Order: sequence, then C-alpha cells, then structure tokens
Amino acid sequence: MNPAVLVPLGKPETLTELTSIFSAVKGDIFPPKNCDQSYSAMTDKVQELVSKCLQARDMAYCPYSRFPVGAAILTADGAIISGCNVENASYGLTVCAERTAIQRAVVEGHTQFTAIAVTCDIKDRFVGPCGACRQVLMEFGSDWTVYLTKPDGSYKKTSLNELLPLAFSPADLMKKN
Ligand code: THU
Repeated sequence: MNPAVLVPLGKPETLTELTSIFSAVKGDIFPPKNCDQSYSAMTDKVQELVSKCLQARDMAYCPYSRFPVGAAILTADGAIISGCNVENASYGLTVCAERTAIQRAVVEGHTQFTAIAVTCDIKDRFVGPCGACRQVLMEFGSDWTVYLTKPDGSYKKTSLNELLPLAFSPADLMKKN
C-alpha cells in the first residue's frame, strides 16, 4: 500500500475515518497499476484490427459471389496481417479471407496468434467464419479471440473455442492410441 494513504490502525470512530480507510484500500487495489493505459492500448489495437479487416474487405476478389469478406489477424508479437476472399472461375478453388490471412501470416513467419477480426457486407447481424476456416484457425490454437465485425465497425467478441467446440486439433494426432 502506498504509505501516503496509510491510515491509523484501530476501529474507525467516524464516518470520515471509515470513508478514508475505504478509499485508501480501494485506491490501492483499483485500478490495478497501468490498468487504464493497457486497457486503452488494447482497445486501440482492437480498433486497428477492425479497421484493417474492413480495408481488406474492400480488396476482395469476388466477381462470382459478389460477397466480399475481410479478415485481419493479430499475431502474438503485435503484427496485423490481413486477407480477403479470392475467388476463381473454377469455383471450388476460392480461398476465404480468413485462410488468405493465415497463409500470408505463416509465410511472413508468424504462427502464434491472439485474435482475428472478420467482416462482410451484412449490416444487420454478426456473421461468423465458415466451418473450414474455423478448422484452419484451430490449427494454431483454440484460445483465439474472434471479433465478428459489421461494416460500421461495431463488433461482437467471441472465441474460437466457442465457435468450434469439441474440435479436432493437432493435439489429437498425438493421442492416436
Ligand atoms: N467467404 C469467406 O471469405 N469467408 C468465410 O468465412 C465465408 C465465405 C467467402 C468465400 C466466397 O468468396 C464468398 O465468401 C461467398 O461464399
């Protein structure tokens, strides 16, 4: 406890004394040191992630579906790597935005991820990644934060664990017998 806010021991006699003990203790515990700073740094990073995924959506190559999707991945070391869907005249060769971002991240040397933001053009609800992309994300861990993002930048925070419960993962290959 900060000595400047130490209060005499013993039973508080007045309401003022009681209040001062309470504020001293409260001041010492809440907010935790640097809480405001790290919280705002975190929200800044989320804002950046969200805005990068919106920008990536604008780059989508989707002449067949006309359904642009953007994704942005936050790596463990703070880098942001984005992706968009890239379609093909042979439709089945289309690559989703999330997987484009994963491929880019890996080739740039990243395999530790903490969050992904995903967006499309749907304005009135939050849309999640397709099943195949959930599985591809699971390859790199189950505790990702996933921000389902609307075109106006509002987002719903969820997690990969929540989106793909009871998943098959690399760990299962170690438990064959
Ligand atoms: N798409 C994505 O990019 N991500 C998803 O999670 C779902 C679907 C793309 C694929 C295709 O280009 C278009 O959206 C329509 O399915």
